[in-house]
Amino acid sequence: MRFEHVLVVGAGQMGSGIAQVIAASGRHVSLHDAASGAVERAFAAMRRSLARLDVDVEGTLARVEPVDDLVTADLLIEAVVEDAAVKADIFRRADATLTSDAILASNTSSIPITSLAAATGRPDRVIGMHFFNPVPVLQLVEVIRGLDTSDETAAAIVELARDLGKTPAEANDFPGFVSNRILMPFINEAAYALLEGVAEPEAIDTIAKLGFAHPMGPLALADLIGLDTCVAIMDVLHEGLGDPKYAPCPLLRQYMQAGRLGRKSGRGFYTYA
Ligand SMILES: NC(=O)c1ccc[n+]([C@@H]2O[C@H](COP(=O)([O-])OP(=O)(O)OC[C@H]3O[C@@H](n4cnc5c(N)ncnc54)[C@H](O)[C@@H]3O)[C@@H](O)[C@H]2O)c1
Repeated sequence: MRFEHVLVVGAGQMGSGIAQVIAASGRHVSLHDAASGAVERAFAAMRRSLARLDVDVEGTLARVEPVDDLVTADLLIEAVVEDAAVKADIFRRADATLTSDAILASNTSSIPITSLAAATGRPDRVIGMHFFNPVPVLQLVEVIRGLDTSDETAAAIVELARDLGKTPAEANDFPGFVSNRILMPFINEAAYALLEGVAEPEAIDTIAKLGFAHPMGPLALADLIGLDTCVAIMDVLHEGLGDPKYAPCPLLRQYMQAGRLGRKSGRGFYTYA
């Protein structure tokens, strides 16, 4: 399955990156977001990102078409806010809009794929296709099968990931899958270290970077992901796995309530120009 036409829903930092890599692979992309100005901001982000690469910027952007609503396509990749109800509503509407042979994929960080599949009449063709931030740079795509995802669907998404130049890794549908089950407790512990006055943010991140050879420290990474997204993921881990060790650090929730969402709002653990 080549997926010549892909509908990307959600044009935030992830949706814009996903639209960019799909368009760069020669496919046609329809890009939709519910918030006014979001698609325009996505085009500006894609233009900045493509300008850093040795590619045909205008030719790539010409393959991305803004759309006001869901449209039919061979594949949906949903990248809206990490909220189960909002995502389930997209899957319900996509099931009614896209032809019955289309695959419906979610870029969710943690929300059960099986629950999104249950909002549709095609649970065999629903799957997690979890890209990493920044999408044009990071290699990994975590491919998550829901309870009823078919082998054909999983194989088609693995093949697409490879065709985009990515490396797929398969996981089963457990809260946070593999990536965020490991990453979020790490970020959470860093937030507790800050809250308890163990060290300043710069020292915490320097220790992770130089001590563990991580490209960036956990607090800078949380700012990149978005503190709202981190808290939403931890809430899913906490509720889904039932262990208090996954509860988000109160500092993360407080920053989120203050509108300190990280890079996307200009301030999180750090301040951005
Ligand atoms: N930020 C990361 O590092 C990262 C990494 C991997 C996966 N994800 C996942 O990707 C998804 C998006 O994250 P993001 O960082 O791009 O968030 P973001 O806040 O940058 O963008 C979310 C977008 O969704 C739009 N949206 C909300 N409701 C909508 C609706 N009903 N219809 C259409 N658009 C709607 C918003 O207007 C916004 O533009 C989340 O599920 C997140 O967990 C994020």
